[in-house]
Amino acid sequence: MNWRALFKPSAKYSIIVLILVGVVAGVVGYFATQQTLHATSQDAFCMTCHSHHSLKDEVLASAHGGGRAGVTVQCQDCHLPHGPVDYLIKKIIVSKDLYGFLTIKDFNTQKWLDENRREQADTALAYFKATDSANCQHCHTRIYENQPDTMKRMAKMMHSRNAKQEGAKRKTCIDCHKGVAHPYPKK
Ligand code: HEC
Ligand code: HEC
Ligand code: HEC
Ligand code: HEC
Repeated sequence: MNWRALFKPSAKYSIIVLILVGVVAGVVGYFATQQTLHATSQDAFCMTCHSHHSLKDEVLASAHGGGRAGVTVQCQDCHLPHGPVDYLIKKIIVSKDLYGFLTIKDFNTQKWLDENRREQADTALAYFKATDSANCQHCHTRIYENQPDTMKRMAKMMHSRNAKQEGAKRKTCIDCHKGVAHPYPKK
C-alpha cells in the first residue's frame, strides 16, 4: 500500500476521512446525547416550566422528600422510565409539554395548577397504570416478596393479599397509593 495516497485528495483519502469523521461524530454525538438526557432529567430542568407550581415543595413535605430515610426522590425517579428506549419515547411525550408550555395560557401559575390538578393528576396516573407502577417498584422492591419485618402488619396483609390476585384483579401501587408525593385532589 502506498501510504502517501492516504494523505492525497484521492478516492482512498476521502474514504478514510469519511470514516474518521463518522467515528468522531458518532462518539461526540453519543456523549452529547447522554449529557443532554442527563441534564434534562434533573429536577431543575422540570422546574424551568413548573417553577411557579407547588410541586417541588409538596415532594419535600412528603415521605419522599427526605424525612426519615434522608432520601429526596427526584421528579424523574417517579415520572420517567428507566429503559433507554422507553425513556426516549417518554421524553418525546414530555416534549409535547413544550408545545403546551407555549400555548396554554397562564400555564406556569399556581392558579392554573389548582384549577387543572385533577385532570393533570389523572394523566400522570395513567402512566403509572400503563407501566404497573414500574417506577415505584424500582425502589420499593420488597413489597410482595421477602417483605421486611419492619413493614406494618396492615401493609403486609394488604400487599400479600394483592400479590395473590390474578390478572385485572391485581391492583397496581398507585391504585391504593395516590398522592404519595403531591396531594391527590378531591375533585
Ligand atoms: C417545556 C416545559 C416543561 C418542562 C421542561 C416540563 N414540563 Fe411537565 N408539563 C408542562 C406542561 C405545559 C404540562 C401540561 C400539558 C398538557 O396538559 O397538555 C405539563 C404536565 C406535566 C405532568 C402532568 C401530565 C402528564 O403528562 O403526566 C407531569 C407529571 C409533568 N408535567 C412532569 C414533568 C417532569 C417530571 C418534568 C421533568 C422531567 C417536566 N414535567 C418538565 C411543561 C413542562
Ligand atoms: C427513588 C426511590 C423511590 C421511588 C421511585 C418511590 N419511592 Fe416510595 N419511598 C421511598 C423512600 C426512601 C421512602 C421513605 C421510607 C422511610 O421513610 O422509611 C418511601 C416511602 C413510601 C411510602 C410510605 C410513606 C407514605 O407516604 O405513606 C409509600 C406508601 C410509598 N413510598 C409509595 C411509593 C409509590 C406509590 C411510588 C411510585 C409512585 C414510590 N413510592 C416511588 C423511595 C422511593
Ligand atoms: C391493595 C392495596 C395496596 C396495593 C396494591 C399496594 N399497597 Fe402499599 N399499602 C397498602 C396499605 C393499606 C398500607 C398501610 C397504610 C398505612 O399504614 O398507612 C400500605 C403501606 C405501604 C407502605 C408503607 C409500609 C410501612 O410499613 O410503613 C409502602 C412503602 C407501600 N405500601 C408501598 C407500596 C408499593 C410500592 C406498592 C406497589 C408495588 C404497593 N404499596 C401496593 C395498600 C396497598
Ligand atoms: C414519589 C413519586 C413522585 C415524585 C418524586 C414526584 N411525583 Fe409528580 N406525581 C406522582 C404521582 C403518583 C402523581 C399522580 C397524582 C397523585 O397520585 O397525586 C403525580 C402527579 C404529578 C403532576 C400532575 C398534577 C398533580 O399534582 O397531580 C405533576 C405536574 C407532577 N407530578 C410533577 C412532578 C414534579 C415537577 C416533580 C419533582 C419536583 C414530581 N412530580 C415528583 C409521583 C411523584
